[in-house]
Amino acid sequence: MKTELLKPTKENLILASNLLKKGEVIGVPTETVYGLAGDCSNSNAIKKIFIAKGRPNDNPLIVHISSMKMLNDIVSFVPDDAKKLAKVFWPGPLTIIMPKGKKVCDESCAGLDTIGVRMPANEIARKIIELSNTPFSAPSANISGKPSPTTAKDVYNDMNGKIPLIIDGGECQAGVESTVISLIGDTPTILRPGVVTKNDIEKVLQKQVLIAKGVLEELPQNSKVISPGMKYKHYSPNAEVYLIKGNFKNFCKYVKLHIQEGTYAMVFNGEEKKCPLPSLPYGIKNDPSSQAHNLFSTLRKLDECRAKIIFVRCPKTDGVALAVFNRLIRSAGFKIINADKKDA
Ligand code: TXA
Ligand code: MG
Repeated sequence: MKTELLKPTKENLILASNLLKKGEVIGVPTETVYGLAGDCSNSNAIKKIFIAKGRPNDNPLIVHISSMKMLNDIVSFVPDDAKKLAKVFWPGPLTIIMPKGKKVCDESCAGLDTIGVRMPANEIARKIIELSNTPFSAPSANISGKPSPTTAKDVYNDMNGKIPLIIDGGECQAGVESTVISLIGDTPTILRPGVVTKNDIEKVLQKQVLIAKGVLEELPQNSKVISPGMKYKHYSPNAEVYLIKGNFKNFCKYVKLHIQEGTYAMVFNGEEKKCPLPSLPYGIKNDPSSQAHNLFSTLRKLDECRAKIIFVRCPKTDGVALAVFNRLIRSAGFKIINADKKDA
């Protein structure tokens, strides 16, 4: 199949929506990362998404809507907390897990009776939904396990020959996927951190919000997960990634002792000039939004450099930085080293 990469002109957005209506799968920009979109009610379209990504069938997809009216078709019930969150954060990078309605096919929800929904802030994505007059299900448009795509070119690299069309909406603003919050249990629980933070959500709901265990640490094998995505390898470039805690001086000391052929570092802006090995910057030290923006594109660049080992400066774990930390511990397969420790 020939994969076309087209600009978001009016005609091309009509073409995109017609392909969705016909049950095809296309690459679509959002404000977080690029998505691989298919009609949420069409089992065949959804199956194509799982095949194109090589995604395990038990990992459900997020459904994207362009109006609150569409929400009522896809959920069986809208909790009060969801109404409050939607009012403040939609359109935007927040996915809310609610009880599933009838319209969405079982394949999209991986057989669960719940559904993750968000209204993207990206106008191109919303226009495509509006024109096709139906919500689309969309996971990130990467091959399963790889870093998520933040440009149309990234999508092309992973999906060339597998899908007919990618709409090129430029670089994604956030660079990491949406915050996922579940409103299913007694206490709202963040299943995946993003640029909408725990603090932002607590301010709106005026109550405590939990962070699921798997967000900050590796879950024991075979433990019960509340989000299927938590149990899979994620965001991994071809290289082995190590997350290095500690100050920059000790980081340099550690990496110098462990340089092998194909070793690179991912550091904060400006540090690349002082680092004792080939390094790429991935954002400003005290600006987690800039780290989130560049995180996946830097991991992908290091794949292009044929990096074999990547040592990464560890971000903080509060606010937006939690989203960066959460992606990096998974890229690293939870290999975290504290360079400040004497015997590191
Ligand atoms: O920003 C985003 O959310 C992007 C863009 C394209 O919208 N999409 C995205 O989708 O990141 P995906 O499939 O790569 O990640 C969705 C995550 C998975 O970890 C999945 O397990 C979880 O959300 N999820 C989806 N539906 C769920 C549900 N009903 N219950 C629990 N977790 C769910
Ligand atoms: Mg993904």
